[in-house]
Amino acid sequence: MRILLHRADGKTEPWIKDFAKYLPEAEIEIWHAGEKNQACDYAVVWAPPEAMLPELSTVKAIFVTGAGVDALLKFSDALPPNIPIIRLEDAGMAVQMAEYVTHSVLRYFRRFDEYEAQARAGQWAPLPQHNKEDFAVGVLGMGVLGTRVLEALAPFGFPLRGWSRTEKNMPGVQCFSGADGLDTFLRGSRVLVCMLPLTPDTSNIMDRTNMSKLPAGAYIINVARGAHIAEPDLSTLIKSGHIAAATLDVFRNEPLPAQHPFWQEPRITITPHISALTLRRESVQQIAANIRKTEAGEQVAGIVDRTLGY
Ligand code: NAP
Ligand code: GLV
Repeated sequence: MRILLHRADGKTEPWIKDFAKYLPEAEIEIWHAGEKNQACDYAVVWAPPEAMLPELSTVKAIFVTGAGVDALLKFSDALPPNIPIIRLEDAGMAVQMAEYVTHSVLRYFRRFDEYEAQARAGQWAPLPQHNKEDFAVGVLGMGVLGTRVLEALAPFGFPLRGWSRTEKNMPGVQCFSGADGLDTFLRGSRVLVCMLPLTPDTSNIMDRTNMSKLPAGAYIINVARGAHIAEPDLSTLIKSGHIAAATLDVFRNEPLPAQHPFWQEPRITITPHISALTLRRESVQQIAANIRKTEAGEQVAGIVDRTLGY
């Protein structure tokens, strides 16, 4: 069996070693632009270059080394139509998301962001505590990662809300769904956490209209994709005070350009797309297990529905 691997960072050796360990029957072929590759059974990619698309049309399945598949689906009609695209489900990302989001929510609830600023200014000034009842956390997206985040927040006693496309029932979480449920969901979410896939339906979901529906003094945590936020609208709402602060891990242009106004906004905390990193060993183990299942004609989890975009 032969696997075609593309890594934009060129660091292929550790992947080859892990595949040798967890799928020793596979030979790994590294994709290089302009070179003729041998025919392969499977492809493993994250954000493949357009020039790789012809080789993706002859494999049995395309594995994406991430939870989101927007960097592949952006090729839309140029992608081979009937080949399954299989994403990572959790593979060590869910606990990382739980750590990141829990940290961010507690940082705002306990006003640690303000104490950090005070400490830098040499100020000793206890601030009034926020009320937990007024600090509902709303998670956009109740999938593999959003659900794990809600579970992690549960022991702290915040009112919890979740929004998804299809109806859900999660104990301890007020669940909303579909376009009809969004308005009520937003109006009651003091902290808005975005954990949605980027699709035509979710692009720009955090625009001025929707962010204005959040309670005054709301917080935004975006760990999904930069294009979920209308960035100038966020700047405007932060300046007006309607949004108290935001923690952003993802941006429309990554790395965030040096001249981007977010760098100058002290109420925006920036991290470089690290909220849930792809863990190589866990990813290779999951892909290897799914290849074995595919070879045995069994059903695998993580197949992307191209019409939904996730
Ligand atoms: P997932 O399991 O597919 O869950 C997606 C959730 O979003 C589902 O609950 C789905 O609803 C909901 N959803 C999708 N479209 C919707 C719509 N139009 N309206 C309402 N809800 C909608 O995905 P996941 O594994 O949790 O990953 C989520 C995203 O996190 C990824 O797509 C990726 O963009 C992002 N991510 C970011 C990082 C990072 O480091 N920053 C790392 C990993 C992942 P249903 O349940 O009804 O289908
Ligand atoms: C990372 O952003 C992912 O989608 O896995």
